[in-house]
Amino acid sequence: MNMKHQKQLLAVLLMGTACTLQAQRSETLLEKNWKFSKGDFKEASQPEFNDTKWESVVIPHDWAIFGPFDMNNDLQNVAVTQNFEKKASLKTGRTGGLPYVGTGWYRTSFDAPADKEVTLLFDGAMSEARVYVNGKEACFWPFGYNSFHCNVTPLMNKDGKNNTLAVRLENRPQSSRWYPGAGLYRNVHLIVTDKVHVPVWGTQITTPHVSKDFAAIRLQTKIDNAGEKTQIRVETEILSPDGKVVTSKENTSRINHGQPFEQNFIVNAPELWSPESPSLYKAVSKIYADDRLVDTYTTRFGIRSIEYIADKGFYLNGKHRKFQGVCNHHDLGPLGAAINVAALRHQLTLLKDMGCDAIRTSHNMPTPELVALCDEMGFMMMIEPFDEWDIAKCENGYHRYFNEWAERDMVNMLHNYRNNPCVIMWSIGNEVPTQCSPVGYKVAKFLQDICHREDPTRPVTCGMDQVTCVLANGFAAMIDIPGLNYRTQRYKESYDQLPQNLILGSETASTVSSRGVYKFPVEDKKSTKYEDHQCSSYDVEACSWSNIPDEDFALADDNHWTIGQFVWTGFDYLGEPSPYDTDAWPNHSSMFGIIDLASLPKDRYYLYRSVWNKDAETLHILPHWTWPGREGEVTPVFVYTNYPTAELFINGKSYGKQSKNDSSLKNRYRLMWMDAVYEPGEVKVIAYNKDGKAVAEKVVRTAGKPHHIELVSNRNELTADGKDLAYVTVKVVDKDGNLCPTDNRQINFSAKGTGKYRAAANGDPTNLEQFHLPKMHTFNGMLTAIIQAGETAGEIVFTAKANGVKAGNIRIQTK
Ligand code: GAL
Repeated sequence: MNMKHQKQLLAVLLMGTACTLQAQRSETLLEKNWKFSKGDFKEASQPEFNDTKWESVVIPHDWAIFGPFDMNNDLQNVAVTQNFEKKASLKTGRTGGLPYVGTGWYRTSFDAPADKEVTLLFDGAMSEARVYVNGKEACFWPFGYNSFHCNVTPLMNKDGKNNTLAVRLENRPQSSRWYPGAGLYRNVHLIVTDKVHVPVWGTQITTPHVSKDFAAIRLQTKIDNAGEKTQIRVETEILSPDGKVVTSKENTSRINHGQPFEQNFIVNAPELWSPESPSLYKAVSKIYADDRLVDTYTTRFGIRSIEYIADKGFYLNGKHRKFQGVCNHHDLGPLGAAINVAALRHQLTLLKDMGCDAIRTSHNMPTPELVALCDEMGFMMMIEPFDEWDIAKCENGYHRYFNEWAERDMVNMLHNYRNNPCVIMWSIGNEVPTQCSPVGYKVAKFLQDICHREDPTRPVTCGMDQVTCVLANGFAAMIDIPGLNYRTQRYKESYDQLPQNLILGSETASTVSSRGVYKFPVEDKKSTKYEDHQCSSYDVEACSWSNIPDEDFALADDNHWTIGQFVWTGFDYLGEPSPYDTDAWPNHSSMFGIIDLASLPKDRYYLYRSVWNKDAETLHILPHWTWPGREGEVTPVFVYTNYPTAELFINGKSYGKQSKNDSSLKNRYRLMWMDAVYEPGEVKVIAYNKDGKAVAEKVVRTAGKPHHIELVSNRNELTADGKDLAYVTVKVVDKDGNLCPTDNRQINFSAKGTGKYRAAANGDPTNLEQFHLPKMHTFNGMLTAIIQAGETAGEIVFTAKANGVKAGNIRIQTK
């Protein structure tokens, strides 16, 4: 279908919707038929501008993720003060080494009925977005992470047809500490409503009473453009998680003094929302103005209670728990910042299995799809807007906008997400330099007050790292929930001094490791660098400011006043390649992740899983057991397990039983045979439960010669929506299926049928291969290829070939 026909179809659909639903709202994503070009163009906002030579793109789109990687894309001569640096030095790979800096334009056109209200909602646009409709500026929003909307009704063409939408985006150099992405990387919505309508984020739902017997629900609905004299009637039905109407109300009001329209409900025997049972209700409201149906608006919500009790901790629905959380940046590894629901769901699926129950959206507003998924899949969320306030961390960072925009940014974030039950706390910032200013508390109070004003139901935290400052200057004492980043040795003192009598590990660990890399001798180390630019997967290495996971586990286990933690980070991300950030190209992605950039779990995943996932068995052995040249050398074996005891055998010879014990921090959480000696063959572990019964067994074998490629997809069936994704793990294995754990051959991909190859990653932080090209080297025997469904039902055949080994192929259905 050509563009003209598609536009016509959209117009017909919109009109059709309007007729059948009688003046109902219509919400469409503007995904297709966009033109894009990097560079600045004087007339690109004008309807007559000729964009035929521009690239055709689909939104969400990240213009920088296709690379190529280049050290010159983000060279910075800076001192990273939060890493204790005093002197500037040459930083490489800090924002991922990708070409995100510069200006870019996007153009499309859309139709909408001429007699309606038309609003454009951007879930985020990176950055400094200037939105033009029919050549006139409709709105400007500088902060690339926030959602914003503009009413473009007055700018529409009279007949509603062929309206030109143009968006100019600009990313300045030195504006970020990680890869921000570039362009229209989140969705753009076209919302068409009656003149009298519920505006964007126009409802606020709270649950003033929650118990097993009943819940009280308060719904406040804003209604725009209803004149003073109009009689407003709102009929709302509350639908249970299985879609049944559990209660309803019809209320009428003529005078509301500018207040939102309020309705109250009782839901008997509510199904409470929790990570383990993420039940979601809906309030479906029909709005009548003088008896004319003008809008139907659905608010999804959950019923749950949260309490933060001094000296007791955090309670969800009356039950005590500690956050088992991770921090994540927003990029999706090889997909960049371009948002994709299947990719987010894949991330959350891995985290869920690890026992993770909470996410911190460090250090910015998330995409709305992530919040919706956390509601649905059961993750508690701490949503955080800022990495800097009025004092700079980056030369061109948000401080340039803070004074003028902070309140508007906060309000949008709060209105966007205050109905989501998953959100259990707001954060107002991360390690902001303002924390050490004598008047920093005033800025914190300003932001915290906005949270309290717009959402009186949730407390506020702030990730603080300058403990001496914040204890002395009153900053920490005025935040609802004091959050410490690292500084585990100062938790107790902070608890003793602060009035809240609770401490949150707002950011923890920052252990560094590379999947499948093991360094000898095995020793605890800080900020160690190796010639190969990797870090050890024995999980004993951290940066000067950070620590190994065991310290945070102990803080949670030993102190009733800790309320849990958010580990830095769940997934590796583009940028911040510490400890290889100073003149250490080609490193350009992080090593902090529990899971690597290719979404492959590192060993550390199983350490967290062994402590956090109380329902599943974890029995994981490291390192791999293919060490030609290490014969006879001490090669410690670690086991991460939820069982208290295990016995190690190497080629049948017992190295004895180990039990978790208090003799050292690591011994509390890991089983370690420090004297194990390498000989090719078989490592076997038998685990015992607390009654001394042998309950599980695991074996790792020395790999033989690389023989074939093994493919394992996370999905066998995709939705034929042009967006759904399968993550295929590509492994080089020997003839018996053992992973060849140091293999790094190039694999070539092809996808045929009703889908396409989208991208690949191997998790190596030094890898400069472009993600979207259909070839990549394995890193320690593995990589991930991502396959994207097309829009027709059928079958995708994905093939991975390499020299010297038998090819692999896999079939994925699209439906
Ligand atoms: C923290 C910071 C994070 C990240 C992390 C790395 O200080 O909040 O954004 O830089 O260090 O360890």
